Amino acid sequence: MKNITINTQLSVYDSLDELPQDIQDLMQQAIAIRKKAYAPYSKFRVGAALLLDNGKVVLGSNQENAAYPSGLCAERVAIFQAGAIYPEAKIVKMAITAASDTNQTQSPIPPCGSCRQSIAEYEFKQDQGIEIYFMGEVGAIYKSDSLKNLLPFTFDKNFL
Ligand code: THU
Repeated sequence: MKNITINTQLSVYDSLDELPQDIQDLMQQAIAIRKKAYAPYSKFRVGAALLLDNGKVVLGSNQENAAYPSGLCAERVAIFQAGAIYPEAKIVKMAITAASDTNQTQSPIPPCGSCRQSIAEYEFKQDQGIEIYFMGEVGAIYKSDSLKNLLPFTFDKNFL
């Protein structure tokens, strides 16, 4: 028997001001679209903003449904939209923010497992990592250079 150790690394920024200007702008767009989320059931609003290598920004917010599992997270709304509209473009950076209508979200909110799997697919598709920044409503921002830091042992096409 032997053990396998996987190292993962994130950077922590204490406030938005510490981020490069382009990421501040991207996060502001994520905050703006978060406020338009359709989240009548959870009251938990999530916004995602993607910067593509063609310079375009694609946005998404969570879209809920009375049949709960039929809803979709903000991250997947955004990446599926990017894949649909700009199938040849690479996703370079992603900003995510989440806020509850009922209490202030102060810690960084990472993408859920299903979103991580979906984001991973696009990293494999484009053969290039995506810089991912995520935060709550206020407080610190976490940055990952690639989805790989958030989902070690990713299931991908190579296993098929
Ligand atoms: N949600 C997202 O939009 N992204 C995530 O990564 C986690 C959860 C949404 C789904 C649902 O509308 C609400 O947040 C509560 O789970």
